[in-house]
Parts: sequence; C-alpha cells; structure tokens
Amino acid sequence: MNQPGFHSHLSVPALQFEGVSKRFAARGRSSEVLAVRDINFRVAGGEVVSIIGPSGCGKSTLLNMGAGLSRPSAGLVRVGGEPVTGPNKHVAFMLQKDLLMPWRTIAENVEFGLELRAVATQRRQEVSHRLLQQCHLQGFEKHYPHQLSGGMRQRAAMARTLAVDPLVLLMDEPFSALDAQTKMILQQDLAQTVAREGKTMVFITHDLAEAAALSDRILVMSERPGTFIEEIAVDMPDRDNPMQRRKHTRLSELVSHLMSLLKLDAHSKVH
Ligand SMILES: Nc1ncnc2c1ncn2[C@@H]1O[C@H](COP(=O)(O)OP(=O)(O)O)[C@@H](O)[C@H]1O
Ligand SMILES: [Mg+2]
Repeated sequence: MNQPGFHSHLSVPALQFEGVSKRFAARGRSSEVLAVRDINFRVAGGEVVSIIGPSGCGKSTLLNMGAGLSRPSAGLVRVGGEPVTGPNKHVAFMLQKDLLMPWRTIAENVEFGLELRAVATQRRQEVSHRLLQQCHLQGFEKHYPHQLSGGMRQRAAMARTLAVDPLVLLMDEPFSALDAQTKMILQQDLAQTVAREGKTMVFITHDLAEAAALSDRILVMSERPGTFIEEIAVDMPDRDNPMQRRKHTRLSELVSHLMSLLKLDAHSKVH
C-alpha cells in the first residue's frame, strides 16, 4: 500500500457541505457565537479549492468539520457522498503548527499514522524513506524536530500528512509561518504531488497569490458569521506548476480582484 496509485480502484472522493452552520457556546460572552452560516459548496474529486477570508470568519471551523473533528450545529458534511461523523481514514489535515511529536525522530513522526494502521515496520520505513526524500529531508531521518528549522519541520509535517496516502487533503494555512522562498518550494512540491496522485484538496490561506497559484477555484468568505460571497474560477494552466503560474499576468489580475473583494485596496489609498 501507499504507493502512488494504491487507491486506483477507488474514486477520489468529493467533499460537500450542505447548509452547514456552526455555533459555539459563549467564551465569557453572554450569547453564543455563530461562526459560519448556511455554507454550501462541493469540491469535486481531484479538484483543488482555496478558501480566503478575514481572520475569525470561520475558515478553520469549516476545515475541522470536514476532518470530522467537530460536528456542524446544522447541515451536513459529506466525503465521497457519506456523512462525516468522525475522522475518516481517507482524509488528512495539515496546520500552520507542525504537530510533530518532540520525542520522536523525523522518520518516526512520518511513520506514526502507519503505526496506528498496523503497517509492518519494513513497509513503514520504506514509505518514510521515500517521502522524506520527496520532501528534501534525506539525511534527517534520525534527527528530532527541535534540531530542524521551521521550514524543515513543515516539510516533515507534509511528509507525515502524505504518509497515510490520503485521498482528501485539508490544509489550514500550512505554509503561512514560512519565509517566502521556502513557501514557494513547498507549494511546488505539494502541487506536483496533488496533481500526480489526483488528490482532492481544500487549502486555506491568507496569501492571495498562493490561492491563485495552487487552485482550480477560490471561495471568498465574508466576515463572521462566515458565508461565501464570491466564487472565482482560476482559469489558468499549470496547476502542477505554481512557480510557472506566478509568471502569468492572469495571476496578478486575480490577486487585484481578490484584494478588491476583501476591500484591501481601500487601505492602499494615501491619507
Ligand atoms: N472552540 C471554539 N469555541 C468557541 N468559539 C470558537 C471556537 N473555535 C472558533 N471559535 C470562534 O469562531 C469564529 C471563527 O473562528 P475560526 O474558524 O478559527 O476563524 P478563521 O480560521 O477564519 O480565522 C471566531 O470568532 C472564533 O473565536
Ligand atoms: Mg484559522
């Protein structure tokens, strides 16, 4: 298992939100917080969709429901047509924080998900070796997370996310703490893997160029309670080559359009 194409007998699942709202009990407030309201969207199997929107508008809340880590207050989330009632073995997520276990080596961190699935030791080592090579971390297998830079730790987190060969990737600002160059290299690696293996991906980011470089479609959210205010088809070739996309004028046009939707251009006026 875990070779590219292992899932070739399975269709890549779609991810679907149907009338999803989420309320949280008040944290020291008198009323509840309505984080997201009546969210409807579908990410087709093999499609990459980015979600952008102001801080606190409910992006992470949506992703957590997709991952089965929290339940909607109303509505339904489906993966591959099946209602999500808890974590799904075909769905993996990655956060800005690397979540590596400090007491495990990099290779042991990458192998963790396979251990939980009782994959034999030799097989686990083959997978972690291949992925660490793919993520440019060969030679660091026996290092511990604290011995690596932030960028390297995030590479290791990406290898760990990919190790269980998920069909659906839910990415919550995974590269936002990285420097610009490391970020572009990781985007390139991720885009190639996702295209080669035909994965479904939802990618949350504050970086508008990143959204345009990586996705087929971009969904723009309003302030809380978050709801979608616009859907944009990226309509560019080279989804497997974000560096190439960055050279297209279409990318800067998209970024300007997204800035105006988010009313960021108003801040560029000289006062
Ligand atoms: N576990 C929680 N309990 C209470 N409120 C929460 C919880 N998680 C998120 N919220 C609130 O829901 C809103 C949306 O949060 P979040 O999804 O993290 O936004 P984003 O990821 O877009 O920045 C915020 O107002 C946040 O304070
Ligand atoms: Mg968030």
